[in-house]
Amino acid sequence: ATSRRRFLLTGGALGLGAAGAAAAAAGIHAVAPTREPAAPGDRVPFYGEHQAGIATPEQDRLAFAAFDVTTTDRTALMALLGSWAAAASRMVNGQEIGSVETHPQAPPVDTGEAMGLGPARLTVTVGFGPTLFDDRFGIADRRPAALEPLPSLPADLLVPERSNGDLCVQACSDDPQVAFHVIRNFARIARGRAVMRWSQLGFGRTSSTSQAQATPRNLMGFKDGTNNIKREDLAAMDQHVWVGSETDQPWMVGGSYLVTRRIRMMIESWDADFLADQEAVIGRTKIVGAPLGAEAEFDTVDLAAMRDGQPVIPMDAHIRLAAPETNGGVRMLRRGYSFTDGTDPATGQLDAGLFFIAFQKNAHEQFVPVQRRLGQSDALNEYIKHVGSGLFAIPPGLSGPGDWYGKALFT
Ligand code: HEM
Repeated sequence: ATSRRRFLLTGGALGLGAAGAAAAAAGIHAVAPTREPAAPGDRVPFYGEHQAGIATPEQDRLAFAAFDVTTTDRTALMALLGSWAAAASRMVNGQEIGSVETHPQAPPVDTGEAMGLGPARLTVTVGFGPTLFDDRFGIADRRPAALEPLPSLPADLLVPERSNGDLCVQACSDDPQVAFHVIRNFARIARGRAVMRWSQLGFGRTSSTSQAQATPRNLMGFKDGTNNIKREDLAAMDQHVWVGSETDQPWMVGGSYLVTRRIRMMIESWDADFLADQEAVIGRTKIVGAPLGAEAEFDTVDLAAMRDGQPVIPMDAHIRLAAPETNGGVRMLRRGYSFTDGTDPATGQLDAGLFFIAFQKNAHEQFVPVQRRLGQSDALNEYIKHVGSGLFAIPPGLSGPGDWYGKALFT
């Protein structure tokens, strides 16, 4: 125990000792890389104008966590964000955050389960919830107007233990263990300063964010992401996703706002529904993903089309009510994942669905009005329940070693 204490006091363990955290906040990496970075194609650049994990072509796997800050010490919070930045900058290269082979009487700095798995296109995206801006850290006057908590919305069945949080981290990768490694080690680094409030694993993407990607299917068996904003559409990214000079808080320029919704699907009822009804609920064909009345997946959605005096795409179809054409031009970048967490003990039914993730310039002008409409009238409501929710400000990307999440917010 003595040598363990001495080890921790020297700050040798990144994130576990105060000195280590301070060094990390200053961008100093005490531990040399244990391995060369893997092939560039497998690695997503970490530094830049925007955080990765938004415009990045959506990876296959998700590990997401929300944290509550337990310290009231502003410096300790800043050091935590610095340690997270230092750790993330290594993990995205496929490097451990510190030595696994430390002192025999000390815990390894990195937990080790991602060793040898490579970067696997890992992205780490960190954000701040509205509650971080209460009186604890002296940043109440830096809260953007767009970070007003989400209002309650029609059909909400939100569970507090699956909602909100002071901080969030979205880890996406093509390897589930590489993604999980991030939230596990972030929780470890945070010990004594923040605790995990809720977490969510996602096992398959439910959206495309690049024209180079094929559209995946969600658990209802429908192609999801067809009419999403794609990263190649730079004008749409600037108009709908990235925060620009319109913000009341300059530290947010280049950032975005993240909405998460854990949406349970009533899978058993859905599976008993007739094919034609499933297609009417979504407004697209199941196999091809074409808008009803059209031929191919990417054909234009004709909301005015009529057949036998009835709209071809029903008035309560999901794609009609969500479409920019019926929402004053509003769009958002969807980047969700399928989840399953075993069975619901109350009913024996699958606890599965879609972990909805959307990035936008202002959730109160984009997600909120669209979801208000969907919650009121969407035919899909018979088969889904929104049980978890989160809103987070995603600050811009880090400029280089020494920069950290929210540096411009706190300094
Ligand atoms: C489109 C499924 C929840 C917004 C679609 C499409 C599917 C789908 C299959 C058509 C393909 C596409 O264009 O991507 C689902 C399922 C949901 C869900 C299964 C819940 C479990 C939501 C929520 C929102 C939303 C909560 C936003 C509040 C949109 C938008 C479109 C869309 C904006 C594109 C509409 C268009 O421009 O044609 N969704 N969705 N969806 N969804 Fe959802």
